[in-house]
Amino acid sequence: MEINITSEQRRFYRENGYLVLDAITTPDDVASVRAAYDRIFEQRAGREVGEQFDLAGTDEDETRAALPQILNPSKYAPEIAESLMKKNAISVAKQLLGDEAAYGGEHAILKPAGSAAETPWHQDEAYWDPAFAYNSMSIWIPLQPATLENGCMWFVPGSHRGPIFEHRQIGDDPRVHGLEVIGADVSSGVAYPIPAGGCTIHHNATLHYTGPNRTDQPRRALIMILGLPGVRLPEPRDFPWQARWQTARQARAKAAETGG
Ligand code: NI
Repeated sequence: MEINITSEQRRFYRENGYLVLDAITTPDDVASVRAAYDRIFEQRAGREVGEQFDLAGTDEDETRAALPQILNPSKYAPEIAESLMKKNAISVAKQLLGDEAAYGGEHAILKPAGSAAETPWHQDEAYWDPAFAYNSMSIWIPLQPATLENGCMWFVPGSHRGPIFEHRQIGDDPRVHGLEVIGADVSSGVAYPIPAGGCTIHHNATLHYTGPNRTDQPRRALIMILGLPGVRLPEPRDFPWQARWQTARQARAKAAETGG
């Protein structure tokens, strides 16, 4: 299965900062990745090195995560590393950005059944090093249908052409890893329900959101980041919210690094 991005789709992405595809992979590939995905969340893979944590809560060991996330799931699941969806994501990125586009990592966000946790409106670039300019994209792939009820993706069309807005930790709590935007107008946001194995693709500056999961089944999403190399800015920007992070996840990563 090969994905061919049309010139119309390229134009849509350039203009709106996102694109939606009904299929980036096959049902067999979705089934294989989904089994691996459930396994590594069950194992809390990467917890001790700070790669598994609660995106929307304070991430204590004993409390149930509101929005569990695993960074670099391919490290823990060869099925994901070798998946057709990953191969096709690289192809799509090259078609949209050019042959220089390279794989920049991935993460998995699980929205448990009945979870009230939103992934609040934000721009991905707010998490990244402000010393660089980016031309990157996140390819968001649900491993079951993504619906309005279970937390499908929303975008503000054209927001990738605007500034990076101020952000803060969700609920203004520095123990929380997840960020939320402050002061952006998101009233023109549009929801995109898509089938399992479809994808949404968004630029690093596009404002996006996913809602709570009001169903009795988990909502699984695998997100791959691809892009051109970052370009160092002559004048560094300041993202002051990044200095406020005080997460348990950082502490675990540091302890693992120092052999603690
Ligand atoms: Ni995001």
